[in-house]
Amino acid sequence: MSETKNNNYQADSNKMEKIVSLCKRRGFVFQGSDIYGGFVGAYDYGPYGVELANNIKSAWWQAMVNEEKNVVGIDSAIVTDPKVWEASGHVDGFSDPLVECKECNTRSRADHLLEEIDVFADEKMTVEEINAVFDEHRDNLKCPKCGQKDFGAVRQVNLLVQTNLGNFSEDWAENPTYLRGETAQGIYINFKNVLDSARVKVPFGIAQIGKAFRNEIAPRQYIFRKREFEQMEMQMFVKPEDEMNTYEAWKEKRMQFYIDLGFSPENLKWHEHENLVFYAKAAFDIEYNYPFGFKEMEGVHARGNYDLTQHQEASGTSLEYLDQATNEKYIPHVVETSVGVDRTFLAVMTEFYDEDELGGDTRTVMRFPKKLAPIKVAVFPLLKNKPNLVAKADEVFAMLSKHMRAEFDDNGNVGKRYRRQDEIGTPACVTVDFDTLGEENSDLKDTVTVRDRDTGEQERVAIVDLIERLK
Ligand code: GAP
Repeated sequence: MSETKNNNYQADSNKMEKIVSLCKRRGFVFQGSDIYGGFVGAYDYGPYGVELANNIKSAWWQAMVNEEKNVVGIDSAIVTDPKVWEASGHVDGFSDPLVECKECNTRSRADHLLEEIDVFADEKMTVEEINAVFDEHRDNLKCPKCGQKDFGAVRQVNLLVQTNLGNFSEDWAENPTYLRGETAQGIYINFKNVLDSARVKVPFGIAQIGKAFRNEIAPRQYIFRKREFEQMEMQMFVKPEDEMNTYEAWKEKRMQFYIDLGFSPENLKWHEHENLVFYAKAAFDIEYNYPFGFKEMEGVHARGNYDLTQHQEASGTSLEYLDQATNEKYIPHVVETSVGVDRTFLAVMTEFYDEDELGGDTRTVMRFPKKLAPIKVAVFPLLKNKPNLVAKADEVFAMLSKHMRAEFDDNGNVGKRYRRQDEIGTPACVTVDFDTLGEENSDLKDTVTVRDRDTGEQERVAIVDLIERLK
C-alpha cells in the first residue's frame, strides 16, 4: 500500500537513534544475522522484544477475536499451493517499481525517490506511467547512496518470495511456490472450512496473526519495512449491500484500538488512498507519527468479492453463501483490517519513549501501558550477598511469577536496577529489605517496598496484598 508524502514531516532522527540504541542495548531488537555483519531487511526480537511483540499480539487478539461475537481465529500455513497466488493476482500484479543507479548499482523504489521530492507516484501505476513521471523529474532525483543522478529505466519487480518447498527438480524456479505475501489469502482459502465447521453466519470475521514475506526492493527505516514481517489481519465477510457501512464501522473501531492502548490522538491520522491496489474498492490507512514522519501503520480495505470470486473460479469449489433465512445465494464481500506487528512495535516504542528528571538524575523511561509492558514487576533483594534477603526475594518472585511476567534482579545497587527497569518500562519494582525480614521492626515483617515507574514514589505493601496491588 502507498504511504503519503510527509506533509507534516517532523523528522526526529535523534529520537530514532535513541530508540534503535535502546532496543539493542536492552535486548528488544537485534539486527538479523548480527554476528555475520547483518542481513538486510531482517531483524530479531530479543528477550524484552518478544514479550512486547507478544503483548501487542494479545491486545489485538483480545480486541479482534475475544471481544467480537462473530469473529473466529485461524492459523494457516505459510506455504500454499502456488495456484492461490496466481488466482489472487499476486503473481501478475504484486510489484513495486525498481530503479537502479548506473554509478553504484544501488536499487531504489522509484515511487519513494519521487515522494522525497514531493512528486506523487505509487506502486499501482503502470510501468509506462511511472517511467513518464520519473523521466520528467530525472534531473532532480539523486541516488540515496552515491548522490549521482544517473538512473536506468524503471521496471516493475514482483514482491512474492519464491521457494522450492517440496519441489526437488533442478529447474524448480520455473514452477515455484511462494512464501505468503499477506496472511489474508490463508483466510480466503479457509472461508468454506470455517463456514462448514464453526457455526458462523454472515456477517462473520476470520482473524489471523502470522509471518508474511515480500522481496522489498529497499527495506528501510529499521523494522518499519522488512522482508520478513508479521501481520495481524481480519477479514469480515458481509452481504454485498453491507460492505460500505461495515467498512466505516471497522475504520472507527481500529482507530479506537490505538486510543484505548494509550496512543495520543494527535499522533494518529487517516490517509485515503488516491490510487487503489488491484483488489481494493476503497482503502484508508491509519498513519502513525513515527520519528521519520507520518507513515502507514494499518490499512482498512473494502475488497468487494474479488478474492473469493477468484478462488472460486480457480479452484472450482463453490464459495457462495446460502442465507438460510432468505434462501439468497451470494459470494460475500470482504472488509479487511490489516496491520503489521513490527510497525505497531515501532509505534509503541516511539509513543511511550520518554526522558525526564527524577531525584536529580536524567533518565530514559518507557511509559508502556501495563498490558504492553514486557515485564510487569521486577523483584529485588536489597543486597545479593545476604542469603536471608535473597531467599525471601526468591519466594516473592515465585509467588508473583505465577500471576504476571516478573523478573528477578540482584545486580548492582538498587538505584541502577531502577534505571534499568525504567528503560524497559517495568511499571513496578518490589524490593525485599531488612524490614521484610522483621529483624528490627516486627510491624514491617513480610512487607516490601513497591516503587512506581512513573512517579518514582515508594510505598510499603504487605506481601499478601502484592498480587492485587500489581494487577
Ligand atoms: N492484506 C492486505 C495487505 O497486506 P498491505 O498494506 O500491503 O496490505 C498491511 O500490508 C500492513 O502490513 C501494513 O499496513 C503494514 O503494517 C504491514 N506491512 C506491509 N509491508 C510491510 C513490510 N515490508 N515490513 C513491515 N510491515 C509491513
